[in-house]
Amino acid sequence: MTRTAIVTGGTRGLGKEISIVLKERGCQVIAVYGSNVAAAQAFTDMTSIPAFRWDVADFDACKAGLTEVEHKYGAIDILVNNAGITSDAVLHRMTSEQWWHVLNTNLGSMFNMCRNLVEGMRERSFGRIVNVSSINGQKGQFGQSNYAAAKAGILGFTRALALEGARKNVTVNAIAPGYCNTEMVAAVPHDVMQSIIAAIPVGRLGTPADVARMVAFLVDDAAGYITGATFSVNGGQYMS
Ligand code: CAA
Repeated sequence: MTRTAIVTGGTRGLGKEISIVLKERGCQVIAVYGSNVAAAQAFTDMTSIPAFRWDVADFDACKAGLTEVEHKYGAIDILVNNAGITSDAVLHRMTSEQWWHVLNTNLGSMFNMCRNLVEGMRERSFGRIVNVSSINGQKGQFGQSNYAAAKAGILGFTRALALEGARKNVTVNAIAPGYCNTEMVAAVPHDVMQSIIAAIPVGRLGTPADVARMVAFLVDDAAGYITGATFSVNGGQYMS
């Protein structure tokens, strides 16, 4: 049966590849994006995957957007909470705005999206949720106290929701990508990047496809016994 999947941050970076791979695996896919209209248009032109614009940090925007999507495309079976931002600074220079913008977008979005979808998934006794954390939520990262806090928070959220969904065939897992070849990582200063690549045992950055294949595995109907887990996709950079 055709499953319907929604991917936040689904028109660029890791999310773009996740959207494409899920479509290739037979899902009906809807992407959500925050601001880059031109990139979203190019994505839809290339993939024929519809893209909806709203701010995942805003609960009411998620509620309205998801109501519209489900009205148009039917019930959502698969949620990939991928949208995320960075606003790096050492804590002694970080502003309150930087802290809350990252927390609200990267962690608040987990509540905003799941709260609006999980009741329906429970009623239908089927749901697959994958939350995109990060290696830096597992190990911490200089200059990322906001991002690391949000990404670590995702791991606790995932485990708690996994317990709640277990009896209803709603699985909830986290993936923790390492440094991948995306615009977000390209923004890291060159000298910092060189030292990061040197610390990756497989000797290269990850690709969006490396991550998307893991997501596709976890959202499959056959993955019903896998829940509450965190899967690293980091080239061996951090082993836990
Ligand atoms: N460990 C220890 N010391 C470090 C360090 C590190 N990782 N990085 C920088 N420092 C030191 C510098 O050497 C410097 O020391 P000195 O003053 O003695 O020379 C001091 O800290 C200040 O460094 P900067 O001049 O770079 O300070 P800044 O305020 O201009 O910038 C920063 C700080 C914003 C943290 C910048 O270094 C930076 O952007 N770092 C990259 C952070 C990072 O890895 N972000 C990941 C983004 S990608 C992502 O998040 C995706 C994912 O999930 C993996």
